[in-house]
Amino acid sequence: MKHDVIAVIDFGGQYAHLIATKVRRAAKVLAEIRQPEDPVSAFAGCKGVIMSGSPSLASFGEDSDWNKAILDLDVPILGFCFGHQEIAKHYGGTVIHGRQEWGRADLHLTEEHPLFKGLGPVETVWMSHFDSVTAVGPGFRELGWSVLGANAEPHRFAAIADDTRRRYGFQYHPEVDDSVHGDEMIANFVLEICGCRPTWTMERYVEEQVEKIRAQVGDRSVFLLASGGVDSTVAARLFVEALGPERLELLHVDNGLMRKDESRLVVEMFRDMGLGEHLHFIDATDTFLASLAGKIEPEAKRRAIGDTFISVFESEARRLGITGHLLGQGTIYPDTIETGGTKRADTIKTHHNRVPIIEEMIKAGKVIEPLADLYKVEVRELGEKLGIPHDMIWRHPFPGPGLGVRLLCSDGSAGDADALGKITPAVQAAAAPYGLQAMPLPIRSVGVKADLRTYEHPVLLHAPAATDGGEYDWDALAEASGTIFKTVGGLNRSLLLLGEGLPKQCRTLAAQMTRDRLELLRECDDIMMSALRRHGLYDQVWQCPTVLVPLEVDGRGRELCIVRPILSERAMTATAARLPRRLLDEVRAQTIALTEISAVAYDLTSKPPGTIEWE
Ligand code: XMP
Repeated sequence: MKHDVIAVIDFGGQYAHLIATKVRRAAKVLAEIRQPEDPVSAFAGCKGVIMSGSPSLASFGEDSDWNKAILDLDVPILGFCFGHQEIAKHYGGTVIHGRQEWGRADLHLTEEHPLFKGLGPVETVWMSHFDSVTAVGPGFRELGWSVLGANAEPHRFAAIADDTRRRYGFQYHPEVDDSVHGDEMIANFVLEICGCRPTWTMERYVEEQVEKIRAQVGDRSVFLLASGGVDSTVAARLFVEALGPERLELLHVDNGLMRKDESRLVVEMFRDMGLGEHLHFIDATDTFLASLAGKIEPEAKRRAIGDTFISVFESEARRLGITGHLLGQGTIYPDTIETGGTKRADTIKTHHNRVPIIEEMIKAGKVIEPLADLYKVEVRELGEKLGIPHDMIWRHPFPGPGLGVRLLCSDGSAGDADALGKITPAVQAAAAPYGLQAMPLPIRSVGVKADLRTYEHPVLLHAPAATDGGEYDWDALAEASGTIFKTVGGLNRSLLLLGEGLPKQCRTLAAQMTRDRLELLRECDDIMMSALRRHGLYDQVWQCPTVLVPLEVDGRGRELCIVRPILSERAMTATAARLPRRLLDEVRAQTIALTEISAVAYDLTSKPPGTIEWE
């Protein structure tokens, strides 16, 4: 039996894929992404269309060139945010610029409608828009209005419908987890309005992927880069399912950027999975460090690491006499989108499995990536279906470039110290009402704002009131960070200095990617990860990068260590985890006992505007 299909039009950013995932998971219906300029024929056979939102800065605007003939299709069409505004406009409504809303709002429904089947009269939804619908054309009516904030004016036309034409619009983003019953609304559209049959299941996904893998591989074999992380391990199991172990070879590369003891544990794990015979191991630390020598800029480091993976892989394939193979990778969907791999996405970070050499190999049909459509939550679900041990599946994600993107390097120059001096008073003024001291730091890290990459400075905060050993006031810290980002440009992260007061001044140190510094970072990371386990919090935290920054804050040439425990579901957004004071005090004490570390800070930044990794 063929699946029914919903087409999701990708107007930019991360939305379309998130919608497609929600259609699959909430309604168990297959969703496929289409482009706004696609001809109507590309929509043949689909049972409904969802038009995504669009990131504000890249908005399509008045002169948008999308193919409006799509609106003539004789199937139900539902728009979210930008899609909603385009539908309203097309059918004679009015959209104005500047009536913006950001955050959670209450949606008040004005009538019962199949789109809201099973839901209450007031629903929490997520708003993120500059433009608004202020009137609808003939045939349309308002299904709901919204209110955001205590004293705000009601926002009309938050949900609209024309049941005769079967055209609908939501101003909010039901695909975002903050829209509490967004999944139900999406499922109602797909099942109630479009009449799709719910046939998509993870079991069927496995069956379909197995077929696809067999078809793509033919009589060749797969040589898989196996980091030991969740993604490549699940990919390995899926390849075994499709091809049997005989046509799968695994290569685990110790790139010198792994966690403490990691490679040893990975090799053991593959042995336990019965794949030991097919696992090859190489310690390529020297090759990776040579490729990183002198590199400071995050993208340059990422490209060097990605390229070196391929050269090591190819030379190992030659050495082992493995020929006629495809390169297997555990690439998941966020890897492609953050690398700018979809039509309208900015390159936020080039993931190690998406460097130009690999893009070339993909074009030449030499790469196989059976998970490239999935988010981490789905990969984990798939892993459980395939019988991979629970502990393995629920390990924290660890990026391919490993500690390479957590060990900041610098040529030691003052950089834009003057510019920072100029914004310092504004930063201090924004932090003062919260009882916080603040200073911008002369280092930079990668972040994301309105779906675009940033490379900006962090602000370091200190909470003098917390020196009595009580819990930190996380709400005040989060609010202060938001105020600082809003009032002062050029900042994309906020850090809380644990313990002592703010330094009088700080200075960047000249520092490279060396074995010694990597060893130091491994120790810091091990302290933090052990603390999470000791306090029983490992499973509550989604991921926890530890970062080493060549920043002197004590006048003695020692570095700053930063811990970044976060909560997330799909890695596309994240918030800082709020850990108990006792754990943080222990981590700080153990970390500054390492003689090369002067201080420890806690990364408070949500994503956006920060990314999870620093580079
Ligand atoms: P960011 O830092 O972009 O990270 O918020 C999102 C998620 O992706 C992981 N990450 C990577 N994973 N190769 C990977 O396999 C990479 O190059 C890479 N860069 C980031 C990151 O750890 C987080 O889980």
